[in-house]
Amino acid sequence: MMLRPRAFALEPLWARPFSIYALTPKTISFFIQVAGRGTAVLAGLEPGAPLTVWGPLGNAFAVEPEVRTLILAGGVGIAPFAAYAKSHPEPSRLSLVFGCRPPVAAYPYKEIAGIAAAEHFRERGPGDIETFIALLGERIRAFRDGLILACGPQPFLLTVKRLAREHGARLQISLENRMACGVGACLGCVTKAKVAGDSPEQAFANVQVCTKGPVFWADQIHLEGEEPWT
Ligand SMILES: Cc1cc2nc3c(=O)[nH]c(=O)nc-3n(C[C@H](O)[C@H](O)[C@H](O)COP(=O)(O)OP(=O)(O)OC[C@H]3O[C@@H](n4cnc5c(N)ncnc54)[C@H](O)[C@@H]3O)c2cc1C
Ligand code: FES
Repeated sequence: MMLRPRAFALEPLWARPFSIYALTPKTISFFIQVAGRGTAVLAGLEPGAPLTVWGPLGNAFAVEPEVRTLILAGGVGIAPFAAYAKSHPEPSRLSLVFGCRPPVAAYPYKEIAGIAAAEHFRERGPGDIETFIALLGERIRAFRDGLILACGPQPFLLTVKRLAREHGARLQISLENRMACGVGACLGCVTKAKVAGDSPEQAFANVQVCTKGPVFWADQIHLEGEEPWT
């Protein structure tokens, strides 16, 4: 969903994208972490403040009720998984591994832990990252015959993608590219994705994350910072 409160005025100019955190027939909720100008304004809104909202936009993570599914979330990347877990037809087949730097209580971890098997890892110092990566590797290996879903910061996605490739696991990732229009028009959010085509020149193209994603099969996209495709 794209959110633009009237309080943005001309600064920041563009709306900001957020995942749906919870949905009822009458309400829609977002879990927002303050990252900069726009999120600071959103966090400071008074009840009843005018807000333009458009969406839902793009696609969603796959739901495969018969398949063991591992959710990997880093930081605010946990936001879309609360609704995912609550609406999953077989939550007993879901497992979550959640990594964060602030205390876990700052995130909607317990909501998912009440439904699915869940474990969390808090990174407190530079040495912890290796331990977390080792944990991710173990869990990905254990789910290599299942489905793996990931959302989080870019370095986290790069690591998860590498580990999934090493273990031959099926992985979907949700990208958090910068967005402005949310409807495929501004091309501000593009990423390189494989497209159908016979010649090598047609092997990949820039696609809009807002309309073709934000969720992609990991082997279909090229992440910034990744080795070039061969
Ligand atoms: C599909 C999608 C779903 C998201 N879901 C959530 C969510 O549920 N909860 C949540 O807290 N955050 C979510 N984000 C990230 C959120 O959109 C950014 O944190 C927010 O736009 C930052 O805006 P800002 O004005 O506060 O930051 P700025 O002051 O503009 O910049 C601070 C940081 O945010 C990044 N950023 C700035 N503008 C955007 C933008 N338009 N799109 C993406 N990143 C941007 C910048 O690269 C910079 O690192 C999501 C992003 C995407 C693309
Ligand atoms: S945000 Fe404008 S094309 Fe995706």
